Amino acid sequence: MERNRWYKDMVFYQIWPRSFKDGNGDGMGDLWGVLEKLDYIKSLGCDGIWFSPIYPSPGADCGYDIADYMDIAPEFGGMEAFKKVLEGVHQRGMKLIMDLVVNHTSDEHEWFQKSRKRIEPYTDYYIWRPAKPNGKLPNNWDSNFEGKAWTWDEERGEYYLHLFAVKQPDLNMDNPLVREEVKKILRFWLDMGVDGFREDVITYISKAEGLPDDHLFPIYKGMPKYNHGPHIHEYLAEFKRDVFDHYDCFTLAEAPLVWPKQALKYIDEEKGQIDMMIQFQCQCADCLFTDYLPTKFMLVRMKKAFSDWQKKLSGKAWNMLYMENHDHPRIISRYGSEKFREESGKSIAVSYLFQQGTPFLYQGQEIGMLNWKPEDAEMYEDVQTRYNYAHSNLKKSKEERLHKMWRSSRDSARTPVQWDSSENAGFTTGTPWFYVNPNYKEINVAAQEADPDSLLNFYRKAINLRKSLKAVRFGNYKEYYRLDNKLYVYSREYENQKILVVCSFSEKETKIRVPSGFDLEKAKIVLGNYENKEKTLKPYETRVYLWE
Ligand code: NOJ
Repeated sequence: MERNRWYKDMVFYQIWPRSFKDGNGDGMGDLWGVLEKLDYIKSLGCDGIWFSPIYPSPGADCGYDIADYMDIAPEFGGMEAFKKVLEGVHQRGMKLIMDLVVNHTSDEHEWFQKSRKRIEPYTDYYIWRPAKPNGKLPNNWDSNFEGKAWTWDEERGEYYLHLFAVKQPDLNMDNPLVREEVKKILRFWLDMGVDGFREDVITYISKAEGLPDDHLFPIYKGMPKYNHGPHIHEYLAEFKRDVFDHYDCFTLAEAPLVWPKQALKYIDEEKGQIDMMIQFQCQCADCLFTDYLPTKFMLVRMKKAFSDWQKKLSGKAWNMLYMENHDHPRIISRYGSEKFREESGKSIAVSYLFQQGTPFLYQGQEIGMLNWKPEDAEMYEDVQTRYNYAHSNLKKSKEERLHKMWRSSRDSARTPVQWDSSENAGFTTGTPWFYVNPNYKEINVAAQEADPDSLLNFYRKAINLRKSLKAVRFGNYKEYYRLDNKLYVYSREYENQKILVVCSFSEKETKIRVPSGFDLEKAKIVLGNYENKEKTLKPYETRVYLWE
C-alpha cells in the first residue's frame, strides 16, 4: 500500500495513563478519564494520542512489563473502555497509537512461565544461558535499571537476560516464532483500528552474535553490544513487509543512543523500515547521556542537537519533535526557570514547535507542570529511581542525594495531571495512587483556561499558528548565532513565506540579534509572550516574526 504520510501534519499528545485522569474514583487514571478529556486534547490542536502501555501488567515498570499483549488492563477500564476511546478519537478525526513493547515482556507473561519450564514452543522465546564454569555471569552486560543484566532462574537452572528490570526478561527476537508473535500482536491492534505504534527501545531487539562482553564504558567506546545489532534492519523490514505495509498506519521508534546518520538507516523515507524516531540528544543539554549524570544546562547543546537533526534529516526523513515524556523530569525545571515558569514555558514551546517534524506534547507540559520534589526518597515509586537512589554516592548527605533525584527521576514528571484546585487537583475523587504535586492550587488546567495569556492558551495559539504556516511544514531550516548561550534564533522559509523564531533562555534582559536580510520593519510578530517590540528582550521572551 502506498504510504499516506498523514502523521506529518499532526501534533500528538502523550498519555501516561495512570496519572492522566481517573474516571471511576479508584485513584488510578483510566480510559474513562481519557474519554472525558478527548475534547480537551483536541482543543489543544492535538490530533493524535500516544498511549503509554495500557495492557495487563504487574506494574514493575508502570506497564512497560506486559503480561498480555492482546488485552487492556482492567484497572484502565478493559477492552470496553478502550473501544469507546478509540471510537471517540476517530469520531473527532483524531488518531491513536499504542506502545509496542517487545524487547521484553513481564516475567509473569505466559510465554516466560512456560519458557522457564522448557515447555515447547516457548523454550527459546527468551535469552537463556547457563552459568559459566568459573561461576561467572554469561557476560558483563549491565541492565539499564537494576544492576547486572542477568538473573538466575531456579526453575530452569539458567540465567535469563533482562536489559531493564529483573521482572522484564528480554525476548529472543532471533527466534522466528517470536517474530511471528509480534506480527500477531500488531495485526490484532491494527485490525481493531489503531493507527500505529510507538516502539519501545526497538533498536535493542537484535543483540550481537554470541553476546560478547561490552567494553567497560560502552557508551564512550561505541555502542553497547545490544544496540543496533546485526539483524535489526532485517527484523524491522520483516515487520514492515508482513504487517505495516498492509495498513494505513505509522511507526515511531524509540532509539537510545542514535545519531542522525545512523537514524537514516531506519527512517530514510525511501529505504527505511520505520517512519520516525525518538532521539535522545535534545534531552542531553543538561546531562551526560542520562538524567542521572546531570550537568549545568547549556543552551548551545540543545541548539546543536535540534539543528543537527533538522539539517541531516532534511529532504530524507521526518523528525519527531519533543521536549518532555514520561522518562524525563519536567522541562521547565530543567531547561527553563521555575521562577519564570510561564515565560520560560512559552519560550521552550516556541523553540521546538516551529521546527520541521511532528511535535509531541506530554501530559501536563501544556500547563507547565514542574518537577515533583518529595521530602523522602521512600516516596519514589519508579524502579529505576529506587535503584539509583540506593546506589547513589553514599558519602553525600541524604539531602544532596535527594536533590539529585529531583533532577534525575522519572517520577518528577509522573505525578497526576493538575486539572483544578480542588482536592487531589481534580485528578480523582478517590485516593490517588501517587502523590499530587503540592503546587496544584496555582498550577492547574482550570485556572489557565480562564486566563487568555496562560501557558495553556499559548500552546493552543502556537499549535494553531504552526498548522497555518507552510514554511513550518515544508520550509528549510537555518540556525543563527550558534554559540550564543542565551538566544536560540532560527528561520524557516518556503516560497514567499519566511519566519524568524527568537527564543531567549535567559532570566535577564537580552539584546535581540537579527540576522542580516531580515527586515523587522516589514515583518509581523505573529506570536510572542510579552507586549514588547523593543530591541531588548525581556526574561525568556520569545517572538515569531512572519514575512509573506
Ligand atoms: C523505554 C520506556 O519509555 C521506559 O519508560 C521503559 O521503562 C523502558 N523503555 C523499558 O521498557
